[in-house]
Amino acid sequence: MERQVIEILEKYGQEHILNYLKLLSPQEEKNLQEQILKIDFENLKNIYEGTKNKANIEEKRIEHIHYTDKEKLTEAEKNNLEEIGKQIISSGHYAVITMAGGQGTRLGHSGPKGTYILNTVNGPKYLFEIIVDTLKVACQKCEVTIPWYIMTSRENHEETLNFLEKHNYFEYDKNKVKLFMQGELPLVDIKGKVILDNEKKIKEAADGNGGIYEAISKNGILNEMKQNQIDWVFISNIDNILSNFVDPLLLGLTIKENQKIAAKSVAKANAQEKIGVFCKVNGKAKIIEYIDLPQELANKKNEQGELLFGEGNFGNYLLNRSVLDDLAKTKLPYHAAFKKSDYLAENGEYKNSEEPNVYKFEAFIFDAFERYDNITILRVKREDEFAPVKNKEGVDSPQTAIELYNAKVVKSRL
Ligand code: UTP
Repeated sequence: MERQVIEILEKYGQEHILNYLKLLSPQEEKNLQEQILKIDFENLKNIYEGTKNKANIEEKRIEHIHYTDKEKLTEAEKNNLEEIGKQIISSGHYAVITMAGGQGTRLGHSGPKGTYILNTVNGPKYLFEIIVDTLKVACQKCEVTIPWYIMTSRENHEETLNFLEKHNYFEYDKNKVKLFMQGELPLVDIKGKVILDNEKKIKEAADGNGGIYEAISKNGILNEMKQNQIDWVFISNIDNILSNFVDPLLLGLTIKENQKIAAKSVAKANAQEKIGVFCKVNGKAKIIEYIDLPQELANKKNEQGELLFGEGNFGNYLLNRSVLDDLAKTKLPYHAAFKKSDYLAENGEYKNSEEPNVYKFEAFIFDAFERYDNITILRVKREDEFAPVKNKEGVDSPQTAIELYNAKVVKSRL
């Protein structure tokens, strides 16, 4: 190992890596060395130190946040907002990003989530295909081909690209589709030490969907958007098969409210539903995960008997490009999850861990919103826009998503 590399390892308490040298071929050593030079160990150290800090006990003022209920708008209001949005979309100032860099652990499909197939009333459909179906309808309505960006991760990039190539992008204009890879962070054990994988490299994993801001900047997507005068970008998940990500009404509303960020919500089904909610914390827009919302607040109702914190977040966001510019330079907080991971032992054995043994660090896309005083929120009907494929079985599974998808198709045919 070069002196410079050894110094980095020593500086950041990662000298144990040198114990593996005896297991490495010259090429493997070279690869590991190159990887070490690319990793931001200072950042990693800070993130790891964060896991030791006590929970934030600063006083939090949690308040209800304003939203607009789509169902309560008059036809004239809806038409007016749609007209404003459509004008922008039709003139080519709107793009869509699908976040597809996740591991889809809960679904347990052996491949990128977008390659999962569902047997719908319209026949067998891949998740990617359903997104293209939605895009095509929107493009036809707005008489424009909307640029489509797909965020992947190192783990699934190649497979995603090959899949889309093989299926000819489901006949979407290939020139308008671009894949880009999000960043990664090393996994570290309880003592903050990196581990090695079975290729004898430091084991890294995708840095969470909050990695999107840095990724679009590093991969030149943001510049491309600027050049192509894309002013608004809709960001959503690969796994919501009813996602309505080309939404002139939402865009019109955001412009009318003079905001730069918008999100859609669904009414929380009940106080116990495991869904993050929109609220204001110390005066700033924020999404609180269900686990962090005190039970007493979760149960609280307004005079009309509705949950006061009832705007469920389902990962549909509309951002002005200026926000993306700002966020490209911003570091978001990381959330640590303690997980099980295989690792290379110093005797060369590749071992399973029966118990959680590493921290995986992830940034969340919505943590960026609290930097802004306000955001537009549009409440939509769950059965119209939210059918997630998260779990293998039970709630939010392929079965429940297919039922919702089929019901919507049948309704549209009436
Ligand atoms: P989830 O948090 O539901 O994760 O992602 P997941 O990977 O799909 O599934 P589990 O938790 O492992 O079972 C919400 C959205 O964010 C994307 C996912 O692809 C999904 O569209 N995502 C998540 C990324 O793009 N990158 C990440 O690092 C994490």
